[in-house]
Amino acid sequence: MAYTGPLGDKDRIFTNVYGFQSAMLKAARQRGDWDDTAKLMQAGQDAIIDAVKASGLRGRGGAGFPTGMKWGFMPKEPTPGKPNFLVINADESEPGSCKDREIIRHDPHKLIEGALIAGFAMRARAGYIYIRGEFIREAQVLEAAVAEAYDAGLLGKNAAGSGYDFDLFVHRGAGAYICGEETAMLNSLEGKKGLPRLKPPFPAGAGLYGCPTTVNNVESIAVVPTILRRGAAWFAGLGREKNEGTKLFQLSGHINTPCVVEETMGISFRELIDRHGGGVRGGWDNLLAVIPGGSSVPLVPAAQIIDAPMDFDGLKELGSGLGTAAVIVMDKSTDIVRAISRISYFYKHESCGQCTPCREGTGWMWRVMERLREGEATVETIDKLLDVTKEVEGHTICALGDAAAWPIQGLIRHFRPELERRIAERRARELLEAAE
Ligand SMILES: Cc1cc2nc3c(=O)[nH]c(=O)nc-3n(C[C@H](O)[C@H](O)[C@H](O)COP(=O)(O)O)c2cc1C
Ligand code: SF4
Repeated sequence: MAYTGPLGDKDRIFTNVYGFQSAMLKAARQRGDWDDTAKLMQAGQDAIIDAVKASGLRGRGGAGFPTGMKWGFMPKEPTPGKPNFLVINADESEPGSCKDREIIRHDPHKLIEGALIAGFAMRARAGYIYIRGEFIREAQVLEAAVAEAYDAGLLGKNAAGSGYDFDLFVHRGAGAYICGEETAMLNSLEGKKGLPRLKPPFPAGAGLYGCPTTVNNVESIAVVPTILRRGAAWFAGLGREKNEGTKLFQLSGHINTPCVVEETMGISFRELIDRHGGGVRGGWDNLLAVIPGGSSVPLVPAAQIIDAPMDFDGLKELGSGLGTAAVIVMDKSTDIVRAISRISYFYKHESCGQCTPCREGTGWMWRVMERLREGEATVETIDKLLDVTKEVEGHTICALGDAAAWPIQGLIRHFRPELERRIAERRARELLEAAE
């Protein structure tokens, strides 16, 4: 039976997400991290992958790909001279997303222990944590935590007394959103420009330095030790089928108490906001729309989202997505066209420029959005814009093209009358001025 009610404290994975206790090893051990890690690893590599599959964990970096299945793509017997690698994505640059940084600065040992276990399961010789350039304090905490893990024998040769050798490196990015895309990240790690690669080959076939690689989000890796300790069935017992577990939601925008909070997957939007966000500013009747998964997913109007389950499939049914669970709440004071136009500007700015539809399309879409903001267009412009978003979507090397198209598609789907109103009002104003 699916459980989508509020998460009890006993089921919380991230017990120090607000930093009330120290992030460092001694306190982390008291919270249960690194508790007989070697014993968890004794279960064996395939058993760990099977447990992660059975838990139902889906990637927390946005796309929701099943984590255990992804690990299963890695070669079981790496070719000599071509080691397997684990890369942990801590780039977190999607507007609205701010969970991985909380894990890193307050609970880094969950990530480090998870890296060892995940690295072991996928037969990786080493792991790299690629951290966003702007996360200066977070990188400092992470580097200190990795250093104390080495000092305590938890990383390196015979890591945590498991008999397995595993190294972990922290690599700082330089602040480009595109380096969060997994293949751009691999290029950047190799010291090249952060340009996404054509797929196939997929990273599990040819990734970092041409070697088999798995890229996972920080949260996907950091929950693994707890899943193994408490059992796959415990994790799978939370949330709905195919949408299991707990999730760090990041609540921002027009709510009374913006916060990052771990909750049950599938909790309703209303409960999430009432319990943790302090309610919508001005009350529920004042809610206009919500971007539920970070700036790249289409917005959902108030009436549709209020009682919707906050998980991958629930939001997909509404034509949107859970993404990173960065929930951006907009009340009726929002200029919704301006808000989406600003998001369009972000994607234009972050396009790496490799593919024509994205390089040219993102700029064109933003410029048209700016005109629509002022009503400086015709009704046909709206259809043309929608057409262009469809030409960009699915026609590019990486998903940044989709990310630029979807917010506009959501706006047109749900707020076309608002766009038409602005056009009509401007036209009426111009006619009046001409008559005067
Ligand atoms: C433009 C772009 C930016 C991305 N940025 C991030 C990011 O900052 N963090 C992240 O974990 N995944 C990001 N992703 C998704 C990654 O490519 C990849 O799917 C993810 O790290 C896989 O981890 P998971 O399976 O654990 O979710 C981005 C994707 C795209 C297309
Ligand atoms: S879709 Fe955009 S960001 Fe992605 S590779 Fe093409 S040009 Fe670069």
